[in-house]
Amino acid sequence: MSFAADILAGKSAIVTGGATGIGAFIVRKLGSLGAQVGIVSRKEENLQRAVVAFKADDGIEVNYRVGDVRDPELISRAIASLAEQQGGMDYLICNAAGNFICPTEQLSANGWKTVIDIDLNGTFHCCQAALPFLKQAKAGGRIVSISTTGANFGWPGAVHAGAAKAGIQNLMQSLSSEWGKYGVRANWISPGPIKGTEGVDRLIIQQGLAERSLERIALGTFGEGDDIANAVIFLCADTGKYISGAELVVDGGSQWHRR
Ligand code: HXC
Repeated sequence: MSFAADILAGKSAIVTGGATGIGAFIVRKLGSLGAQVGIVSRKEENLQRAVVAFKADDGIEVNYRVGDVRDPELISRAIASLAEQQGGMDYLICNAAGNFICPTEQLSANGWKTVIDIDLNGTFHCCQAALPFLKQAKAGGRIVSISTTGANFGWPGAVHAGAAKAGIQNLMQSLSSEWGKYGVRANWISPGPIKGTEGVDRLIIQQGLAERSLERIALGTFGEGDDIANAVIFLCADTGKYISGAELVVDGGSQWHRR
């Protein structure tokens, strides 16, 4: 799928967790279609490496700030500073996430809290910090959160992430309702397994679950980072102007209810 090369010219986007994984695919796509992009994540070395790679591979200048989505004050400063540098903010992509496989019986209270804090609380902090800027977006601000199909059917072995992502989905629905009056759209994408990401390597392939996962995918293959990035563009560009409070499932027709 391809979009007109200048479809996002003049737009400003911020992607949390944009240095790696699915986030980096989203950054490359936003930038190559003309948007100014800022990324924020915890590790400066990841941010620096990513910015160099975006420039070398795609010719995109990407701005960055160090920030942990769990810390409301820090992340708010990082988002505001990026938005000011980029002359505002049209799109907020809430992509930062943490996850690990652990049977629920063995999951510590802090293990549970850590993932809820990153995924759910972090998304809340970022949305609140972004709102003053999104309100000013000329064509209506967009929030796109990256969820997972695991939030819809339960996620055995990753109950913290499944519950947090289900919370994010409800948060997007509530924000779409509350912030529609500001022209802000809030939606989420639920990816299935995306190949070449650290998450799928660690959570599926290294767990010996690749074959079983593939059997459940109607199209018979894991997705690609660009499949998610294209869905983000569809929701952010004019194509998504009448969509809010909605889920866009991008999973090759997975049937997660098949145990
Ligand atoms: C059991 C674990 C654990 C594990 C951490 N903990 N890893 N428990 N099994 N494998 C527990 C720790 O013991 C501790 O609890 C608590 O969780 C916090 O751990 P820290 O290491 O101190 O946390 P932190 O350094 O903040 O790291 C956060 C993290 C980490 C989420 C735990 O894994 C991380 O930063 N990951 C990188 C980001 C990431 O996961 N990306 C992939 C997302 S992919 P105690 O009780 O000991 O104090 C995704 C979608 C995948 O979400 C889709 C697949 C289909």
